[in-house]
Amino acid sequence: MPRMISDRLADMLTHQIQSELTAHMNYYGIAVWFRRNSLDRWARLFMNQSVEEAQHAAKIMAFLDDNDVAYDLPALTGASTQYPDAAACVRSAIESESRVSGEFRAMAKAALEECDATAHHFLQWFIEEQVEEEAKMAKLSDLVASGINLFQAEALLDSFDTD
Ligand SMILES: [Fe+2]
Ligand SMILES: [Fe+2]
Repeated sequence: MPRMISDRLADMLTHQIQSELTAHMNYYGIAVWFRRNSLDRWARLFMNQSVEEAQHAAKIMAFLDDNDVAYDLPALTGASTQYPDAAACVRSAIESESRVSGEFRAMAKAALEECDATAHHFLQWFIEEQVEEEAKMAKLSDLVASGINLFQAEALLDSFDTD
């Protein structure tokens, strides 16, 4: 199999597997918090988000495999399920998404520096995905900050949880 990406991008993408799986765990923790508070629709939204993060990791693995990059899977760290309130849960999600967006921007910059068109193109999907995820979490933050009863807010979550 031909290898079409630079060593630098191979390393960064390998590291990104850990980042995506960390986000996967973090969203599981948030989902547990909501379920424990009987907010089942909120819990489902964050469970779905968690699954998406695992899919992001899998998408990167497949790309590395296609490019003949050898790697091991990272050890996972734990994730909290204990938050003071819903606002803190959403804040944790926003911080995580914004960190991940920065990582993808750094990778895109590195790909340009390395003249690595293959990796650069691959990264564009994630950069668009990050815009969507950051926007989704910002909307959830506004919803929580509105002071709406979180049980009543469940009726609105279908419009946030579309992908
Ligand atoms: Fe992700
Ligand atoms: Fe994400």
